[in-house]
Amino acid sequence: MDFKTLMQTRYSVRNYQPEPLSEELLMEVLEAGRMAPTAVNKQPFVFVVVNTENKLKKISAAYPRDWFKTAPQVIVICGDHRAAWKRGNDGKDHTDIDVAIATDHITLRATELGMGTCWVCNFDAEQVSKALSLPDHIEPVVLLPIGRPKEAEIPSKKRKSLSDLVRFNEY
Ligand SMILES: Cc1cc2nc3c(=O)[nH]c(=O)nc-3n(C[C@H](O)[C@H](O)[C@H](O)COP(=O)(O)O)c2cc1C
Repeated sequence: MDFKTLMQTRYSVRNYQPEPLSEELLMEVLEAGRMAPTAVNKQPFVFVVVNTENKLKKISAAYPRDWFKTAPQVIVICGDHRAAWKRGNDGKDHTDIDVAIATDHITLRATELGMGTCWVCNFDAEQVSKALSLPDHIEPVVLLPIGRPKEAEIPSKKRKSLSDLVRFNEY
């Protein structure tokens, strides 16, 4: 799939088939996260795969939506605030930027391999940290359900026009 088609094919999947991914497929997708660029190559993230019934239940409690429970597994993309690069002149912590790029790599590779994902950030981070026994400097940034989409149709994209987004030389 060429990159333009890949971008158009990826969408937020909110209904999954129940079968979990093979470990081989899962590792293929996580490899795309590993290859993501990061500030000063710090790679300040950990991918926690949640795939047992007990842990999925706990993660779902932190994001209580019926559709979310259809995901056969969830990758919790965690940022490592200790490891991340902080900009010298103002201390800006680049954890979230690095996590976002890794997550995007994962979503696009998953799409290429016929799987669906959905970024989820509107969850209770404290509950997730507790469920996964995360140390204090490790923040759960994204819950990424992943699996085969149930529906076959790709919804049309709702996006601002380029003319709304692009400026030249000044705001
Ligand atoms: C940072 C971020 C956080 C998001 N959080 C949620 C969320 O908590 N729940 C949800 O259903 N979708 C969430 N989404 C998905 C967006 O709603 C979705 O990407 C957007 O509406 C565009 O639709 P598309 O992904 O199908 O192209 C999030 C997306 C991003 C990038």
